[in-house]
Amino acid sequence: MKTPSHSGGLYALARPGLFALEPERAHELTLAALARLPAVAQRMMFGEPAHAPLEFCGLRLRNRVGLAAGLDKDGVAIAGWMRMGFGFVELGTVTPRPQPGNPPPRLFRLPSRRALINRMGFNNAGVNALAERLRRAPREAAIGVNLGKNADTPLARAIDDYRLGLEAVYSLADYITVNLSSPNTAGLRELQERDRFEPLLRELLQTRDRLADRHGRYRPLLVKLAPDLADAEVDRLADAAATLGVDGLIATNTTVMRPGLEGCAPAAETGGLSGAPLAPLAERVLRRLRLRLGPSYPLVGVGGILSGEDAARRREAGADVLQIYTGLIYRGPTLVREVASVV
Ligand SMILES: Cc1cc2nc3c(=O)[nH]c(=O)nc-3n(C[C@H](O)[C@H](O)[C@H](O)COP(=O)(O)O)c2cc1C
Repeated sequence: MKTPSHSGGLYALARPGLFALEPERAHELTLAALARLPAVAQRMMFGEPAHAPLEFCGLRLRNRVGLAAGLDKDGVAIAGWMRMGFGFVELGTVTPRPQPGNPPPRLFRLPSRRALINRMGFNNAGVNALAERLRRAPREAAIGVNLGKNADTPLARAIDDYRLGLEAVYSLADYITVNLSSPNTAGLRELQERDRFEPLLRELLQTRDRLADRHGRYRPLLVKLAPDLADAEVDRLADAAATLGVDGLIATNTTVMRPGLEGCAPAAETGGLSGAPLAPLAERVLRRLRLRLGPSYPLVGVGGILSGEDAARRREAGADVLQIYTGLIYRGPTLVREVASVV
């Protein structure tokens, strides 16, 4: 169902100005604008949110389109994302203690490829600051919180950081994501390895169950995976997640590969690649998970969705719901409605 909105035209006007700025500056400005623009102006710009309700992981979502983690790590513009029409909004990654992330520059555009490379490194104000914002957050759309570990927490202690995060936001989030796949925190992706994944998730799920008892509310726990996994690793993670009782999987985070980017200058930058070139890799992992886990296991598809057509294809590959990040940078808020109207 299409409702007229003016965000497409406005974004087409704003984009050249934003793209003339240094990428992180453009990001800060748009986030600040979204946080401060009066609700009435936003409603005029974005129109009515798409209404196509569904149940996912026991949550009632108003549509299948979610904001991917990392765009609003600290939850400064929650109401704005909801007015933009998202069915669910994933905040974070947050870590127990605030941390500055990697030194800039750490975000790069590859406009000819509709891609980004980032090595932000979980710059965030800490989980308690986010918890404070969540207490006052509107609830028109579901809110997920994506948890990570501090850069200076040894890998062997990663469990402590995830547990602290889980305890801090459990009663305030609709779902929790355990991020084991960002390429910009040393060693983080090793938590997907057999010896580490199973003990970590077993313990976190036990903590979740204790919190569910204490608060009288069950909150699904999802795990976000990397696209750079061999088929056998995807199968092993799928089996472990299902056996342990992980509620759902998110496929995928950014890639450390540089598919088809030969001769593209920023491709040499260290970090995770997102956007169009990531799509085939993210889709491969998603398809594999769906094949392994059967039709009813909850899966989130993310990575390189830049159009309604991309979204329909990712649904066909097995995603129950979708998330977008880089598509918003290249297409603007109009992409939310475009995706919601086809899936
Ligand atoms: C600048 C930037 C920062 C990101 N930060 C996070 C993060 O903090 N946690 C996370 O789980 N994913 C993070 N991501 C990954 C996205 O959530 C998403 O999985 C990935 O970008 C693929 O989707 P896309 O192609 O639609 O951008 C980040 C992506 C970008 C571009």
